[in-house]
Amino acid sequence: MNIKSLFISNKIKHLALVVLAFFSFTYNLHAQDGDVALGETLFKANCAACHFPDKDMTGPALKGARERWIENSSEENFYKWVKNSKSVIDAGDPYANKLYKDWNGTAMTAQNLDDAGIDAVFAYVEIYEPTTAPPPPKGEMTSQGPVETSSLYWWLLAGLLIVVIAVIAGVKGNLAAIARDKDGEEQPEQLTVGQSARSWAWNNRGWFGVTVFGCIILLLAVGMVKWLDLGVYENYKPEQPIAYSHELHAGNLGIDCKYCHNAVTKSKHATIPSVNVCMNCHKTVNEGKDSDGTAEIAKIYEAAGYDVDTRTYTGETKPIKWVKVHNLPDHVYFNHSQHVVAGGVDCKQCHGNMKKEDVARVMSTEDLNNVGVTDDDWDENDVKFTKPTLTMGWCIECHRQSSVDLAGAPDGSYYNEIHERLLKDKKTYKRYLEDDVVTVGELGGLECAKCHY
Ligand code: HEC
Ligand code: HEC
Ligand code: HEC
Ligand code: HEC
Ligand code: HEC
Ligand code: HEC
Repeated sequence: MNIKSLFISNKIKHLALVVLAFFSFTYNLHAQDGDVALGETLFKANCAACHFPDKDMTGPALKGARERWIENSSEENFYKWVKNSKSVIDAGDPYANKLYKDWNGTAMTAQNLDDAGIDAVFAYVEIYEPTTAPPPPKGEMTSQGPVETSSLYWWLLAGLLIVVIAVIAGVKGNLAAIARDKDGEEQPEQLTVGQSARSWAWNNRGWFGVTVFGCIILLLAVGMVKWLDLGVYENYKPEQPIAYSHELHAGNLGIDCKYCHNAVTKSKHATIPSVNVCMNCHKTVNEGKDSDGTAEIAKIYEAAGYDVDTRTYTGETKPIKWVKVHNLPDHVYFNHSQHVVAGGVDCKQCHGNMKKEDVARVMSTEDLNNVGVTDDDWDENDVKFTKPTLTMGWCIECHRQSSVDLAGAPDGSYYNEIHERLLKDKKTYKRYLEDDVVTVGELGGLECAKCHY
């Protein structure tokens, strides 16, 4: 893999995306009702730093503000307020003075908008609806493979239940008939659809028996496969002590993975960031998108022993107990820097598209093979996985398929040494180069001792 060309193609893709995003943005503006669209732009540019449309922030929620002014003061003063709130306060307007007092004497900055601009802002604010993001993909229901097996499982279960009910009903109906016969009672003349189905089921009970038996065997087989899968960690996503989101930080805010997982290029471990790393930003960012987010950020302060009110550290720290997500057994040796630096393997190839996850999850093979479908910022994974993530088969599969760029290896590297050695052993060299690529496997990546202590 050539890292440089990969980097450049990434840059080009980024640029294309930015251009695309710009066009779709302007397109959206034109597609919407003129005033509202303009209002949204004006709101975001001038007001969003202090106001939410629908909840209080530095200033009050703006929804219904015009009505409040008409009720408590006048519409004229409403416009005046937005343009220059101080003038209305100084003029002695009681509502303006009350607002100013209620908001702890924080003056709103004068806004350079005309009446039409203010109308547009409020046209947007009044129709604003908070967007509810679709729930983040959870567990196994997101990837195709497991869904298939589990829905198959439910269909079978449903089928089995129907059969069992039919048979039981058939038995019951027939027992009742026998009982009536014995008591000399008259049999009901007309059979309802249900009854005839039951008697049909009873008359064909041999077949039903076979079907039920078959279903049970199938269920056991599916259960067995599931059970064998228990040693597999795919989709493992434990509850974490703080509702941290990769999507928000690495995706929306664009923070580099290595900013937080900073040992990944230097050591065996990627490491989870300490609370100090979070505090670099959260000392000032103390509000989340909603009260839940704010409560989660408060947990960071608790861990760091930080008092937001006095802005001082109390010294009473309480480490955050992140639950480890990826876990290889002790007898396996895995090294991050070897893969990320020497091998030039992208995090995505093993961890999937973390920019779309909240807390971390062990990706399924499906996720790893298909990231390209959901993320434009993805270079096609040459490696196609079939073995479950984190199993031995998974490592081997990648080592068999990943090529090593011997020529591109930096001077004095481990590969040059191998290269030198290979040049002396022409026969092996030729064998390795038969398919024009040298794979990690060919260089020893399949040797037991490389991965096992
Ligand atoms: C720098 C922060 C800041 C910005 C920017 C800002 N506001 Fe305000 N706004 C406030 C504060 C604070 C208050 C509460 C009153 C006070 O303390 O002066 C307020 C109050 C208001 C009110 C009165 C609300 C009510 O309930 O009656 C309106 C209307 C308003 N702002 C509109 C706007 C509009 C429209 C914009 C953008 C064009 C804007 N504000 C930009 C801080 C701001
Ligand atoms: C070749 C596959 C591969 C690549 C590439 C890779 N990882 Fe990992 N990662 C793993 C495996 C395997 C584990 C489990 C290691 C263990 O349990 O010892 C892991 C574990 C982790 C952990 C948990 C802490 C630890 O070190 O055990 C973090 C965090 C992590 N990876 C982040 C990253 C980041 C960030 C990148 C990209 C810069 C990355 N990984 C690239 C395979 C990979
Ligand atoms: C480079 C800056 C930066 C770092 C480092 C950072 N955050 Fe954040 N975080 C932010 C910003 C900015 C927001 C607010 C985003 C918003 O309101 O939309 C935020 C929001 C949050 C939220 C609230 C989310 C919500 O739904 O409202 C939580 C929880 C959080 N961060 C946890 C963490 C944790 C834990 C760490 C350390 C592992 C961390 N952050 C590190 C910048 C950072
Ligand atoms: C996405 C592909 C990929 C996956 C998955 C992967 N590796 Fe690798 N691995 C590589 C590449 C590429 C190299 C060559 C980089 C190097 O050796 O510097 C490599 C090299 C190695 C080496 C050094 C081999 C040598 O010849 O010295 C070891 C050890 C290793 N990997 C262990 C593992 C283990 C253990 C796993 C599974 C938990 C794993 N790898 C999963 C791509 C992968
Ligand atoms: C702002 C800090 C921050 C950034 C940026 C960040 N992470 Fe994380 N990462 C965390 C925290 C905190 C955890 C522990 C909670 C969890 O498991 O989600 C974590 C966990 C992980 C884990 C699982 C570790 C384990 O226990 O096995 C992986 C894998 C991972 N991150 C990969 C990435 C990748 C890939 C990126 C870049 C796309 C990235 N992270 C960006 C903070 C960050
Ligand atoms: C590329 C890395 C790699 C190589 C090479 C490798 N293994 Fe493994 N091996 C692993 C990993 C990772 C696991 C852990 C799998 C798991 O936890 O499911 C493992 C697990 C095992 C286990 C425990 C049983 C199991 O499946 O969990 C045995 C036994 C084993 N390996 C033997 C070998 C032998 C023998 C060789 C040489 C022919 C070998 N391994 C080569 C990565 C490797």
